Amino acid sequence: MSLETELQNYWMPFTANRAFKKNPRLITSAEGIHLFDPSGRRILDGSSGLFCVPAGHCRPEIAKAVGEQLRKLDYTSPFQFSHPGGFELARKIAELTPPGLDRIFFANSGSESVETAMKMAIAYHRANGQPQRYRFVSRELAYHGVNFGGISVGGMIKNREGYGPLLPGVVHMRHTQTVKNSFTQGQAETGADLADDLQRAVDFYGADTIAAVVVEPVVGSVGILVPPKGYLQRLRQIADKHGILLIFDEVITGFGRTGAPFAAQTFDVQPDLITMAKALTNGSIPMGAVAASTKIYDTITSAAPDDVIEFFHGYTYSAHPVATAAGLATLRIYEEDGLYQRAADLAGPFQAAVAQLRELSMVTDIRGYGLLAGIDLEPTAKFGQRGYAMLKALFEAGLLVRVTNDTVILAPPFVAEVSDLEQMVDIIKRTISQL
Ligand SMILES: Cc1ncc(COP(=O)(O)O)c(C=O)c1O
Repeated sequence: MSLETELQNYWMPFTANRAFKKNPRLITSAEGIHLFDPSGRRILDGSSGLFCVPAGHCRPEIAKAVGEQLRKLDYTSPFQFSHPGGFELARKIAELTPPGLDRIFFANSGSESVETAMKMAIAYHRANGQPQRYRFVSRELAYHGVNFGGISVGGMIKNREGYGPLLPGVVHMRHTQTVKNSFTQGQAETGADLADDLQRAVDFYGADTIAAVVVEPVVGSVGILVPPKGYLQRLRQIADKHGILLIFDEVITGFGRTGAPFAAQTFDVQPDLITMAKALTNGSIPMGAVAASTKIYDTITSAAPDDVIEFFHGYTYSAHPVATAAGLATLRIYEEDGLYQRAADLAGPFQAAVAQLRELSMVTDIRGYGLLAGIDLEPTAKFGQRGYAMLKALFEAGLLVRVTNDTVILAPPFVAEVSDLEQMVDIIKRTISQL
């Protein structure tokens, strides 16, 4: 069978399908911080897959837990039935989330977690006697997954355009990336006032029409936008003043990326809802979740009569037994290996290594926080072309990264050594000079 025939049936996500199938980048195995192609060539995983694998690939503890679970209980309906693992994992997650954000709803991806959180926000206000609060305030350049709620509040143009009118009533605040703050290491001193866009939305539409404001505490997929100092606090204050819920989309930042289990703790801002996915199972089995405040849970559940379903939402695979087993094994690894602290300890050396790229003339900005970094390359006449060329060249050079437009994103596994992080940066440096 020709390669083209072999590859023709899989319609790949967010991929230049025709180009890929002519010249595929296939991975057939992985171990630790490395991936291997069919010829056995070793490739450094510079982005933890898609921000998913902090503990390194193919952890035997997870494989064992998943295998045992598959032999014991492969599936049971999560509607009106359950299994003990779901409750145990919810308890473990609630030990990691900020106090009071302790009611955990399970989904299967980041996108589903976002939809779930948005519905919870609306359901909360309805149960609270304010059904007219249906609007969402979000931000330009945000990524909240690919379902209709998520692309409606999302701010990546390509993901939205062409899909019709989307959800009504979404208002986008400005993003926080400014030329003035280029090459800022960590949080910028200026820019907190951009949170006042939430107040403008309140003034324009009326607070009593707004259900929630949803933001990624550190914007991930679009290229790592770090919140200016005081920005998230200001959003919280304005939201509180007007009875608006604050949703943190922590699908990337959840489970240690910013040096604490959640960015809510890193930046010391308490949201009302947190979405999570990716690192929840170390990328091994699809799973997402939403942590809701006790108040949201109590308000929604107590509004319904006893013996009646309180929240008409859920997935066939919510708290899937196998994903749950993977999640429990993963959280055990994070705790026993001290990986949250390790991420915090590696952040300094990592950011210092990435900062060296500033000397390259093609690099027009670098942003970073914790174990996340975005490196902007000067675009060619065709926006995104250089980023795509870089993705391919880096793969050839032995480094897998995430690229958005002309931005290279690094998000290394937490089990990497400082020398591995330096090697990632060296490969980028070399590749840029050869591009
Ligand atoms: C902040 C954020 N929200 C939601 C999602 C969507 O997650 P998924 O691709 O698992 O649906 C992502 C994915 O990268 C994300 O970064």
